[in-house]
Amino acid sequence: MRIHSIVGARPNFMKIAPIHKACLAYPAIENRIVHTGQHYDDRMSGVFFKDLNLPEPDIYLGVGSGGHGAQTGAMMIAYEKIALEEKPDLVLVVGDVNSTLAAALVAVKLHIPVAHVEAGLRSFDRSMPEEINRELTDRISSVLFVTEEVGMTNLGREGVEMERCHLVGDVMYDTLRNFIGRAEAVHAHAGFGVGKKEYALVTLHRPANVDRRKELTRFIDLFERLPLDVLFPVHPRTRQRLAEFGLLSRIETNTRIRLIEPQGYIDFLSLVNDARLVLCDSGGTQSECSWLNVPCLMLRETTERPMLITSGTVELVGNDGELALRRVADVLAGRYKQSAALPFCDGRAAERIVGILTDTFR
Ligand code: UD1
Repeated sequence: MRIHSIVGARPNFMKIAPIHKACLAYPAIENRIVHTGQHYDDRMSGVFFKDLNLPEPDIYLGVGSGGHGAQTGAMMIAYEKIALEEKPDLVLVVGDVNSTLAAALVAVKLHIPVAHVEAGLRSFDRSMPEEINRELTDRISSVLFVTEEVGMTNLGREGVEMERCHLVGDVMYDTLRNFIGRAEAVHAHAGFGVGKKEYALVTLHRPANVDRRKELTRFIDLFERLPLDVLFPVHPRTRQRLAEFGLLSRIETNTRIRLIEPQGYIDFLSLVNDARLVLCDSGGTQSECSWLNVPCLMLRETTERPMLITSGTVELVGNDGELALRRVADVLAGRYKQSAALPFCDGRAAERIVGILTDTFR
């Protein structure tokens, strides 16, 4: 069985890594990694292949950045040629980025079955491009692999046949489990001159948060008022906006805030693990914080993973700076919730996925 596993953007790589590893146990499976090139900088892509022991992509489409239509369209044009040439038996897509939807659309129109990993999650906010990508990808996939109960509920409500849906757990947890030992050993924070559990880790990249001057300025105001050192790995989109809005020099002169480059998987996990708290708008980081029992104030109004609010360490603070500062004070005073053991996290989600795929497409 020939599988095309599609990756493109940073959050895809840690999801594909355990699936690729699980495929190696089946000699009958040829898993070919197709990289769309949505992310292309070494710090957004290459470093993850090295960190996660992933082989170089078998196919690189080199599509790069662009508006949603241009980027998704270019990926479809490029991938359709490859799919026609290579005739995979199955296309496996992960998460909710533009690469996910583009490859799924190409495959389904060529009558190639699509498996979607991390299906069923919904923020119910269609202003997020990821929400559209999730809904459409689930709609056209033959097999849906779901991380948590709420995903099954959402798919059921949308009328998806339950025979196609499999609750398997979270492949991102598999990856975290595989690499946390290495992350614990690197003490990445020390390289930035801040002490263990003495800093806030901050990330921000959602278009709704960074693309407009007013919103981005509010977040910078908040970061400046945090009562502890701040490490801020800056996503390229955010760096561009900070420069455009004249905010870059303001942060660079602030001695409490350290603007740092985007981090690889191991170093970032190390920074999360050793942080006193995290403020972010990242879909993946909220899970990592909950698994590592690190307080996570989400700079968003919604989450596609409500379980992390009830059982994890996530609280939604949106762009309410005063609320965020109150909750930071609570964290520092030891008044913040602890994470409960989250269900379906046993490090074997990828094994289950590949097992189900071999049974389904035997
Ligand atoms: C994408 C995903 C988002 C995910 C995020 C993780 C979509 C719709 N969004 O958003 O869900 O959370 O990745 O990072 O798929 N750029 C570089 N170097 C790169 C890649 C991008 O400089 O390697 C810059 C470009 O100027 C580009 C901008 O970042 O225009 C945005 O990149 P893009 O892939 O469009 O979306 P992200 O904001 O990264």
